[in-house]
Amino acid sequence: MSSEDIFKKIVSHAKEYGFIFPSSELYDGLGAVYDYGPNGVELKNNIKQYWWRSMTQMHENIVGVDSAIFMHPKIWKASGHVDAFNDPLIDNKDSKKRYRADVLIEDHIAKIEEKINKEIAKAKKRFGDSFNEEQFLATSERVKGYKQEMETIHQRFADLMNANDLAGLKSLIEELGIVCPISGTRNWTDVRQFNLMFATKMGSVSDDSDTIYLRPETAQGIFVNYLNVQKTNRMKIPFGIAQIGKAFRNEIVARQFIFRMREFEQMEMEFFCRPGTEMDWFNYWKEERMNWHLALGIPKEKYRYHDHEKLAHYANAATDIEFEFPFGFKELEGIHSRTDFDLKRHQEFSGKKIQYFDSEINESYTPYCVETSIGLDRTFLAVFSHAYKEETLSDGQTRTVLNLPKQLAPYKVSVLPLVNKDGLPEMARSIMNDLKFTMRTHYEEKDTIGKRYRRQDAIGTPYCITVDNDSLKDNSVTIRLRDTMQQERVAVDNIKTYIASH
Ligand code: GAP
Repeated sequence: MSSEDIFKKIVSHAKEYGFIFPSSELYDGLGAVYDYGPNGVELKNNIKQYWWRSMTQMHENIVGVDSAIFMHPKIWKASGHVDAFNDPLIDNKDSKKRYRADVLIEDHIAKIEEKINKEIAKAKKRFGDSFNEEQFLATSERVKGYKQEMETIHQRFADLMNANDLAGLKSLIEELGIVCPISGTRNWTDVRQFNLMFATKMGSVSDDSDTIYLRPETAQGIFVNYLNVQKTNRMKIPFGIAQIGKAFRNEIVARQFIFRMREFEQMEMEFFCRPGTEMDWFNYWKEERMNWHLALGIPKEKYRYHDHEKLAHYANAATDIEFEFPFGFKELEGIHSRTDFDLKRHQEFSGKKIQYFDSEINESYTPYCVETSIGLDRTFLAVFSHAYKEETLSDGQTRTVLNLPKQLAPYKVSVLPLVNKDGLPEMARSIMNDLKFTMRTHYEEKDTIGKRYRRQDAIGTPYCITVDNDSLKDNSVTIRLRDTMQQERVAVDNIKTYIASH
């Protein structure tokens, strides 16, 4: 099955099992906006909690905020978003479709990378066990040619983006022979800049002064609260401020399901440190964040760093943690060393002094900042798409299972009376009522037990507890494990211990 087909199945599974619905579906949907259903909201909340706890509970020097989405418009001037938060867009004159010029070029580079991967796969097949990938990459003339081509395009592309050279971007698209996927033609308009912020009006008087923006990132809500938090919580540098919240971007190309949305959630942490120590903290957070991902139990081959060679004007180091989504490796999280850019700009635009007195060195300074910024919806997609499996069982039947990390699954257990009579529902409910205080517990009595197991597999419930007629006599239940489908008889008194250790 092609990765495109698998991705389609993942999207329809998410809808069919109450994880994600297109927003406003009754009215045929709204582009790149999605709603989370009953199972989706549980999974999403568990991801949030996993991030929030690891940031705040596990780091004594990180505290949280929940700042408003509406902020003073000057903030977005200071941050640079009003002037520079743009995407280069280009239209195809024949299909009338709009694209991001940078994405067209990135996709072209990704296609060359795909060719390299195909060469590797072919060689692996040819050489079998004796295949040495490193040696192959270093010696295959064809692969070396592809790599050189990628690097040349990449370098030119980065230079054009940095120089904001829109005419150059158009020329590059033409030179590379990039065609519109819909019309198949190269009939392109000029490249134009498009600001991604949504604007609205505050109050009843409609003039320019009351134009405000829906925040395009949560980070600025942290920077403008730096002084409040540092003072009220008596924070000592180095310290961090974490925030989870909605962000809004008027994305030109909204596709790939919840990967690129117009309304999404971010989990961001700004870590303030003494100038000169930022590279140590940058390396610390780079490793720490990767460990957070790996602690979910997803194989490390699914992640990679992508260090930025060309840096934004305010950054002195930047890397992305990329994840292998069904449509290839793409950014999941960004880690940036943002210097003192943001606090200095807010100092300048607000006219208020933003300084820290460091009693250890007897000096005042504007703190430097290392940012970790991860998309909640993208993490959802990473976890969900990796968990989705279609399995053929030993008896030839198939099942769809979500091997979600246990701590993230919408329900930890489902309690199922074998039949809906003979006192089994009563015993099952009593077990559920005991478990529900410590774990998210589901109860179901409709349908055959086989069908109920399949449904729990499909939503990723790690443990099913079945109460049968023997249960009434021996006060034991059958616990079925989602991943192996193994079943074991467990005394009711031992259910919690069993779940904790399996
Ligand atoms: N404060 C830094 C910042 O906002 P970013 O790279 O623009 O940096 C950070 O965004 C993360 O937010 C990304 O790595 C991605 O996971 C998520 N993200 C950004 N735009 C998104 C979108 N349109 N839809 C879903 N997630 C998005």
